Amino acid sequence: MLDSAAMALREVLQFPDPRLKRKSVPVGRVDDELRALAADMIDVMYDEPGIGLAAPQVGQAIRLVVMDTEWNDEENGPGKNPMVMINPEILERDGELTWTEGCLSVPDFQAEVERAARVTVRYTDLEGNEHTEAAEELRAVCFQHEIDHLDGVLFIDRISRLKRNLYANKRKKALKLEQEEGPARNTAVAESAQDSS
Ligand code: NI
Repeated sequence: MLDSAAMALREVLQFPDPRLKRKSVPVGRVDDELRALAADMIDVMYDEPGIGLAAPQVGQAIRLVVMDTEWNDEENGPGKNPMVMINPEILERDGELTWTEGCLSVPDFQAEVERAARVTVRYTDLEGNEHTEAAEELRAVCFQHEIDHLDGVLFIDRISRLKRNLYANKRKKALKLEQEEGPARNTAVAESAQDSS
């Protein structure tokens, strides 16, 4: 039986969807609509699964991010502890590191990205409380990756042009193949319909 909650999950936009390139606007106020969107985004993040999701990835060009960088450690981890960040911004960056990143909006691809090793981030939660957090390692990378989404930047915009073009071409071919297979099935259906008439 199909789970109705799973059926209602929002779709994650994928490269090269132009909506991923938009710059998102700040969230003005926290209302029921925003709370519902944040809850939906958390569901999508755990379902995919991912450790972070930004509103533009589900087609909403507002500065809202959900994150949970530890939940997949089911054995020793603290379990699910989703964090909702409204209007997050990076106050300080320090050092450099290279991290292998992937993205729910960039299917079938991972690449090394250079990031700041440590960041200090400020954001507001759903209750309107302001937080400041200093992060390093995976968490620092995740903050930078998600906040990039709010500015219309994907991690593949931070790798070499050569690697990005290789991926873009591979993706174009895959999408073309999907398109070609779609109409082919429709033709087969149309033909069998003709046969039966
Ligand atoms: Ni991403």
